[in-house]
Amino acid sequence: MMRKKIVAGNWKMNNDLAQTETLLSEIKTQWNKEPQARVIVAPAFTNLYSAFKALRETPIEVAAQNMHQSDSGAFTGEISAAMLKSIGVNTVILGHSERRSHFGETDAVLAEKVETAMKNEMEVIFCVGEELEDRQQGNEFDVIKAQLEKGLFNIKKESWGNVIIAYEPVWAIGTGETASPEQAQDMHAFIRKTVAGSFGEEIADSVSILYGGSVKPGNAKEIFAKEDVDGGLIGGASLKAEDFMAIVQAI
Ligand code: PGA
Repeated sequence: MMRKKIVAGNWKMNNDLAQTETLLSEIKTQWNKEPQARVIVAPAFTNLYSAFKALRETPIEVAAQNMHQSDSGAFTGEISAAMLKSIGVNTVILGHSERRSHFGETDAVLAEKVETAMKNEMEVIFCVGEELEDRQQGNEFDVIKAQLEKGLFNIKKESWGNVIIAYEPVWAIGTGETASPEQAQDMHAFIRKTVAGSFGEEIADSVSILYGGSVKPGNAKEIFAKEDVDGGLIGGASLKAEDFMAIVQAI
């Protein structure tokens, strides 16, 4: 089974409307040859609709960085699946480590968010990652397994076509420190084996698993070359068109 290669840019809380428009037009200008991958950008909520309109005629897709688990109601400051879908956004990043650590998103909350996304037929980029301490203590595989089982594995078999997994070791996010290609491969193979254990080989073989954590033009190629690495979730380097497009071409 051929898995989809994917490069996704997580812009986090960066870029206002004008900066979003500038960055997207730079990306479009630098789009030279057809990449062998799906390319996704995830701007802030306020810029999603503008991004959707700017990219409508291109193969570049737009994703949200988060959403709420409820359909609607008294949740001041939150955004629902229906709101995202109504502006053409069908993909959402869930469980990013910054959401987990700064905003208290637990595995249980993430399971609800995933369920809501599946119910609304949205695609999820589900993030998992261990802290430095976990790795120092040799617990990284247990931590990732628990995050997968508690946050993601409540879905039905039929929903897996709407799932992308991103492995993002917390110690490598925004730190300039990257997992070695071997460390990434080991964890990606483990994630795939864990999916296979619960949902079977066919699903495990078809799910795209992205690596995230200080991916740059200089290291993308060797990470993406690993068998179980199907692309990247890019933070800092996705804010510069030149770097982002170099990473897209690295795949
Ligand atoms: P980084 O962020 O590329 O800046 O390390 C990755 C992410 O948080 O998705």
